[in-house]
Parts: sequence; structure tokens; C-alpha cells
Amino acid sequence: MEEQAFSMPRIGDKAPEFKAITTQGDMNFPSDFSGSWVILFSHPADFTPVCTSEFMTFATMEEQFNKANCKLVGLSIDGLYSHIAWLRTIKEKIEYKGMKDVDVKFPLIEDISMNVAKKYGMVMPGESSTQAVRAVFVIDPEGVVRTILYYPLSLGRNFDELYRIVIALQAADEFEIATPADWRPGDDVIISPAGSCGTAKDRMDGKEEDLDCKDWFFCTKKLDKDTVLKRILKN
Ligand code: BEZ
Repeated sequence: MEEQAFSMPRIGDKAPEFKAITTQGDMNFPSDFSGSWVILFSHPADFTPVCTSEFMTFATMEEQFNKANCKLVGLSIDGLYSHIAWLRTIKEKIEYKGMKDVDVKFPLIEDISMNVAKKYGMVMPGESSTQAVRAVFVIDPEGVVRTILYYPLSLGRNFDELYRIVIALQAADEFEIATPADWRPGDDVIISPAGSCGTAKDRMDGKEEDLDCKDWFFCTKKLDKDTVLKRILKN
């Protein structure tokens, strides 16, 4: 049993399949999300302050993620009625940083059995053996895990960064580029390193005019913000 707590998918793996009960009905994962990006994320417990601030933020940004063809799915090791009561409390009573009357419309998985949490390595016994840490799995439309993040219990996530990750992964796929540190749409992007001595020389000789080469292995090019967002965002 203990060993299972440490099993986790890796980047590039197919997302492990599971069936679950959620606040929006039954779920078959990841097949219910085929064709969409998904962020599957865990939180330690319902009715806790950091998690409440996270849910309010994520719910407020849900439409923004949906426009990028990305669905949100939450999970904690709590039961369905706890989830329902917590989401009702958030909507009816909690006001935080200008957010109020927040309706959490994305599904929240009940995982009292820890079936999903164990499959995804969301339980880290050094932190807690009964609560999931703040894990994030970004899964692409083919059901492949593309990014994994883990935060401890005390640290709320940065949801702008999660959005940046989704956009950057899609930009990398759409334009066959890589994105440098702190990239945001409109910033220069990185092209594949030269694969031959000839290409390296050509690049350093300035033969590929749209490139800006810092050295033969590190060339960037412009990629307009509108071009990126038009390709990625739905109207
Ligand atoms: C919170 O979400 O506030 C929280 C949850 C578990 C441990 C510590 C904080």
C-alpha cells in the first residue's frame, strides 16, 4: 500500500485512467476530456483557507482557461457531501480579494478511497498521509501528461503561471518552437538548435534573416502576440 502512495505518472506518459464521482456527476478520466487540454489538480482538504482562496481564484479564471480549450478538474481526499457543502459555502458566504458569489462549476472529484490520489502520486506521506499535496497535472488533448507541479500544503499556487503554462505548451505545439524563461505571448521564441555544422555556420553567418542568434545553439525569432493568441484561443 505504502509503495502505491509514491507511484506517479511522468511527463510524456499517458494520464492514468480512472472512474470517479464528482460534484458534476460521474467521470471517466481522461476519455471524457478527449480533444481538450485538462488541468487535474489536488488540494489538501475542503473547508481550509488556502484551498478556498485557490478555488475562488481558479473558478474566477475558468472561462479564460476554457477559451484556451482547457478544462479544470479538482480533487481532494474528501467525500461528495463535504465537497458540495464547501462549494455552497464558498458561493454563499466567502468574499475574498474582490471575488464573491463565486460558483465553482468545474468538477471536484471525491476521493475518500485515495484511489486517484495514489495513482497520481498526490499523497506525500512526509507532508501528510491523509491529505493530498497541491499537485497539478497538465494533460493534452491526446491524454498525455505534459507538465507536473507539486506545492506543499502551506503554499497557494500561482494561477497566472498555470495559464501561462497552458498557452506556452500550446504555442510550442502549434509553432514548433520552445519558450524561454518567463515567456509570455509576444516575447521572442526559441527555435530548434542547429542539427548540423552547416546549419550552425549558416545561422552564425546571418543567412537565416528572421533569426537572432546569440550563438550557434541559441537562436530566437519573433512571434507576434496576436498570431499566438489567434491560433490558440477560441472566440
Ligand atoms: C489550507 O488550505 O489552508 C491548508 C490545508 C492543509 C494544511 C494547511 C493549510
